[in-house]
Amino acid sequence: MAILKIARMGHPVLRRPAEPVTDPGASEIKRLIADMIDTMRDAQGIGLAAPQVHVAKRLVIFHVPDEGTDEESEDDPSSGPRPLTILINPEIEPLGEERTLDWEACLSLPGMMGMVPRFAHIRYRGIAADGALVERVAEGFHARVVQHECDHLDGLLYPLRMTDLSQFGFVEELRHAAGASGEL
Ligand code: NI
Repeated sequence: MAILKIARMGHPVLRRPAEPVTDPGASEIKRLIADMIDTMRDAQGIGLAAPQVHVAKRLVIFHVPDEGTDEESEDDPSSGPRPLTILINPEIEPLGEERTLDWEACLSLPGMMGMVPRFAHIRYRGIAADGALVERVAEGFHARVVQHECDHLDGLLYPLRMTDLSQFGFVEELRHAAGASGEL
């Protein structure tokens, strides 16, 4: 296992669509997952997508911490805390047109944050590390994290989703304006 270098905004690997994983059980994929977990934990991130570690494959990992969820929704699996999740070849289906605005940060834009619109309710599916199919309905911060990570697989960083760039800047300057969350 190893801590990998994280690509920052401007690196071409973050701008191009990633390729599907053809053999989710391959030893190289297992090693990539283990290294991504090490890398995310070392960077104290909430999520990480393979292109962020210079691998253009459709694979993301994330967790939804307690502090990223509403107090009243902790018992609701669609929006409450989620343990570490690995998704290979993930797909997202919006459930309705409703969008919500909230702050996001990203390990590929260290020290920065922005206010990003996302679908409020989604269904997502993908393949877990053990080959099982994962399918969940998500809302709130959980839905936001999944949309952020899967955008990385299509070459999109969160500033490209923003509609008001006046709400984009350095965490140290914006902190007073935000209940800041972790880096994705
Ligand atoms: Ni990110």
